Amino acid sequence: MNYPKSVKIVEVGPRDGLQNEKVALDVDTKIALIQRLAGAGLSYIEAGSFVSPKWIPQMAGSDEVFNQLLQSTQTNPAMTYAALTPNMQGLERAIACGVKEVAVFAAASESFSQKNINCSIAESIERFKPVTEQALASGLTVRGYISCVVGCPYEGAINPEPVAQVADQLLAMGCYEISLGDTIGVGTPAAIDALLSRLLKDIAPNKLAIHAHDTYGQALANILRALQMGINVVDSSVAGLGGCPYAKGASGNVATEDLVYMLNGLGIEHGVDLPKLISAGNFISQKLNRANSSKVGIALQ
Ligand code: HMG
Ligand code: MG
Repeated sequence: MNYPKSVKIVEVGPRDGLQNEKVALDVDTKIALIQRLAGAGLSYIEAGSFVSPKWIPQMAGSDEVFNQLLQSTQTNPAMTYAALTPNMQGLERAIACGVKEVAVFAAASESFSQKNINCSIAESIERFKPVTEQALASGLTVRGYISCVVGCPYEGAINPEPVAQVADQLLAMGCYEISLGDTIGVGTPAAIDALLSRLLKDIAPNKLAIHAHDTYGQALANILRALQMGINVVDSSVAGLGGCPYAKGASGNVATEDLVYMLNGLGIEHGVDLPKLISAGNFISQKLNRANSSKVGIALQ
């Protein structure tokens, strides 16, 4: 079986994780988490989102989080601290904070697009074009997400075709990579195989990433299938935090600790120190007063 030699881990806990938690954390605690994650060797951290605070109050402090992270003279240039930007207002906030990488987020399902960002898929693409154009002109890089790539909380199973169409549009506007979101974690390796078999006809594997929520316990199996098919960028969330407030029942992403343990077993490089990562997972679980959702985090306590 072929596996990539190394995997880039995109840590989404401070964004995807914390956006869905009932306990609203203060900026200092978010910074403390992000610093622990960076200290564990994670070099790409999605640290917040510039969305409407009415829609996602948990992300309201993102401006302050990025100001503190990026305006410190000790900021390591090798680190990427990225943010979600749904529109021009979000991009302007990101640029004002000195953010260098943003992500736009579309969906493969019309109903989810409406619930999550209050517009159709076509309208979202039109909205993202000027965001991407302005970001690139300002020297930023832009990642694209597609939600509901195999299943939607409102529409059920999703075919690969609409995913392929949205992926083409996001790449054409200048996104350097598309993260494929199994938002509600319903996919199995068979669904991931069918999706990637379709996408890889037109898109190089180094332009795709996998973003697997673990609601049905399939995330690691789905990631393994994606690795076997040539994908080497994987999103994950420390302590398995996360979910999407507009996808009822969606639980967290695959836990970064569990992903790292699997990559270690496969002999795939990733650059993360597992004990330090577990300590970061325990730190945030305590702050949120919740159980650690990483099986590896629990096993190695
Ligand atoms: P809208 O209500 O249609 O927007 O929301 P609007 O342009 O009509 O503005 C309404 C109000 O929001 C105005 O304020 C704007 O100023 C304000 P008011 O005049 O009423 O006082 N506003 C903003 N404020 C701050 N920053 C902004 C901003 N934009 C508008 N950027 C909108 C449209 C897209 C803004 C809204 O639907 C939204 O913020 N949605 C975000 C939802 C979200 O963050 N979901 C979770 C992230 S996606 C996810 O988790 C999936 C992913 O992990 C992958 C996967 O798992 O599949 C990425
Ligand atoms: Mg997500």
